[in-house]
Amino acid sequence: MNDAPTDRVEAAARALRDGGLVLMPTETVYGLAADAANPNAVAAVYAAKGRPSFNPLIAHVADVGMARRVARFDARAEALAARFWPGPLTLVLPVADLLAVCDLARAGLDTVAVRAPAHPLAHALIAAFGGPVVAPSANRSGRPSPTVLADACEETGPAAAAALDGGPCAVGLESTVVGLLDAPRLLRPGAVTRAEIEAVIGPLAEAEADARRSPGRLARHYAPNAPVRLDAARPRPGEAWLSFGPGGAGPWNLSPSGDLAEAAANLFAYLRAADRTAPSGIAVAPIPHEGLGEAINDRLKRAAGFVG
Ligand code: TXA
Ligand code: MG
Repeated sequence: MNDAPTDRVEAAARALRDGGLVLMPTETVYGLAADAANPNAVAAVYAAKGRPSFNPLIAHVADVGMARRVARFDARAEALAARFWPGPLTLVLPVADLLAVCDLARAGLDTVAVRAPAHPLAHALIAAFGGPVVAPSANRSGRPSPTVLADACEETGPAAAAALDGGPCAVGLESTVVGLLDAPRLLRPGAVTRAEIEAVIGPLAEAEADARRSPGRLARHYAPNAPVRLDAARPRPGEAWLSFGPGGAGPWNLSPSGDLAEAAANLFAYLRAADRTAPSGIAVAPIPHEGLGEAINDRLKRAAGFVG
């Protein structure tokens, strides 16, 4: 099909109104979108992902005005939204409207996660639909997030009534999740770094071990089929090799120039590509921990199954 983009966005918005699911590009990763107020549509999202229903979804909004109808904003939330939206930052706040994002989407919590994505097609879809849209990453639960439409189709495509192709995702890692219920907490490191958030609202507390507060933090997550070995100096025989920096050998150098933003954008696609060669394992070179490196190392540890 070569319809104009506006026609495709309208058709996708119609699919959402009919209770269907839509593969939606965002600047972070592809999402599997549904009407946040429709429990049947939301149930279909959990089913397509094989996602446990205690792990709540993010409500995606067109702008801060739509977000304020869904969640109760305080001064910290206003400041972060003003600085980082639209963009890869999710805020967990007290829920304001129990129906706008249905109980199932919130996993029964009295809090809600909201984010205004920066990708023009995501923005256009949410604006055309006219209300909040839940969109977990379009992978099946526990697998790497898709960063191109073809990977999203391979994961959850059969469940989708429509798909929008936004090209490769610019960021390649999921949004940063910040909880603003009491002390501000970093619930998931992501594209917006800890330092960038602390520059706006001051120090961030660590995420609690309490699963009700950060329900998505399962140990084995973002995982390919092959076992992942981290901080490797070189690959062993039979292993695929994800290198990093100048001189890194092989087809999967996350960033030949040692740039963390480029490494983040390549990470999930290279894990998938390496996995497709059915190696005995995937060895990954050490990645610096500063800045965006915190989020990259978080995803790698989960891919390796190490994080509690
Ligand atoms: O970049 C992203 O955020 C992508 C794109 C598609 O927007 N979406 C995404 O959604 O990563 P998902 O469902 O894969 O991750 C949502 C994260 C989970 O870790 C979940 O536990 C957390 O947000 N979350 C959602 N609602 C929450 C709540 N009320 N309290 C605490 N954590 C919450
Ligand atoms: Mg996910």
